Amino acid sequence: MAEKRNIFLVGPMGAGKSTIGRHLAQMLHLEFHDSDQEIEQRTGADIAWVFDVEGEEGFRVREAQVIADLSEKQGIVLATGGGSVQSKDIRNHLSARGIVVYLETTIDKQVARTQRDKRRPLLQVDDPREVLENLAEIRNPLYEEIADVIVKTDDQSAKIVANQIIEQL
Ligand code: S3P
Repeated sequence: MAEKRNIFLVGPMGAGKSTIGRHLAQMLHLEFHDSDQEIEQRTGADIAWVFDVEGEEGFRVREAQVIADLSEKQGIVLATGGGSVQSKDIRNHLSARGIVVYLETTIDKQVARTQRDKRRPLLQVDDPREVLENLAEIRNPLYEEIADVIVKTDDQSAKIVANQIIEQL
């Protein structure tokens, strides 16, 4: 990469965006950011609180603002929330301001990874698999639409996936 470009990681909950993003940023000497973490820093509360108090709609407004702000920077790796691609504005921002990397994974892996981490409000239901399947149907075509690079994250370690991404930049 001649200039310091941005790398935006998109993909569903449990794809490994934050873990892989940290490795990638370290390997490329770029700053790492995470849109959920940024929302938590700005509100001083966790994502579940934002959903509780402001609803998903309020969360999406914050998410759009955070991604618009962070994508103005140069030379960052940004892990985006899994639902951010449903906004056309966000898709446009990401496409215009960096290389979009879609971390693709299976529903089985998503279920396994998100069970270990109970913090996601959309998955606090009896059947999280069904939610993940329904979201995948809507969102996977959107991830694909804006992806410059697509990498599978099923069986590989985060470091290996980060290396595969670097090879394709
Ligand atoms: C969401 C994904 C989460 C977080 C919020 C909503 C979604 O981020 O933004 O819980 O709509 O898929 P991760 O993709 O980092 O889990």
